[in-house]
Amino acid sequence: MVETDQLDEYILEHIDEEGEYLHRLYRATHTQLLRPRMASGHLQGRLLKMFVRMVRPKNILEIGTYSGYSALCMAEGLEDGGKIYTFEINDEQEDFTRPWFENSQYADKIDFRIGDALEHLPEMDVMFDLAFIDGDKRKYVDYYNMVMQHMSAGGYMLADNTLWDGHVADPAYDKDAQTVGIRAFNDLVAKDDRVEKVILPLRDGLTIIRKK
Ligand SMILES: C[S@@+](CC[C@H](N)C(=O)[O-])C[C@H]1O[C@@H](n2cnc3c(N)ncnc32)[C@H](O)[C@@H]1O
Repeated sequence: MVETDQLDEYILEHIDEEGEYLHRLYRATHTQLLRPRMASGHLQGRLLKMFVRMVRPKNILEIGTYSGYSALCMAEGLEDGGKIYTFEINDEQEDFTRPWFENSQYADKIDFRIGDALEHLPEMDVMFDLAFIDGDKRKYVDYYNMVMQHMSAGGYMLADNTLWDGHVADPAYDKDAQTVGIRAFNDLVAKDDRVEKVILPLRDGLTIIRKK
């Protein structure tokens, strides 16, 4: 039986390279930041770029910038005139992340905003064709309800970590706040007739939602 690590390596050898800049960002994320596992990384980053290529959005929303890895991958897939608005609630993250955006070739496509997306999104007069939800797992239901109001018809929402390391289906995690948050989100999306949805068991689970 082939080991998961071997298969992961095989996959990375047979998909697009992440590129030198993102590789350096990923390394810097691991050497300079706490909780580096939060960053998307090579496989998910290429997938996000591919989604952007498929959807061809004009405006993208991201909730949860962290080191900027996923935002840069999505910016890479944007066509001329496209923009990604990415929110990060932790102001201590700004000194690390902003230079990585500004020194990248996608600086003019990225609007990086420090603040709580839940607070600032209602003030924005922008409709999104693609949204990547990757903030606080306890708040996924709130993000969903708010982002739905800012999604164009036919737009896509991607929600990360929706299997939460399998905890969503494990009764041992019934009292864990993040698991409870993700389960509530999954239940809400499952019964929402306004959307089509599918869960990809990639990494921690990625839900793809299409607004009808
Ligand atoms: C998993 S990390 C994001 C990783 C990044 N999207 C990537 O894939 O490389 C989650 C981030 O969301 C931020 N966050 C949490 N709640 C938020 C909110 N309400 N608004 C904006 N950012 C939030 C956290 O501070 C954290 O940096």
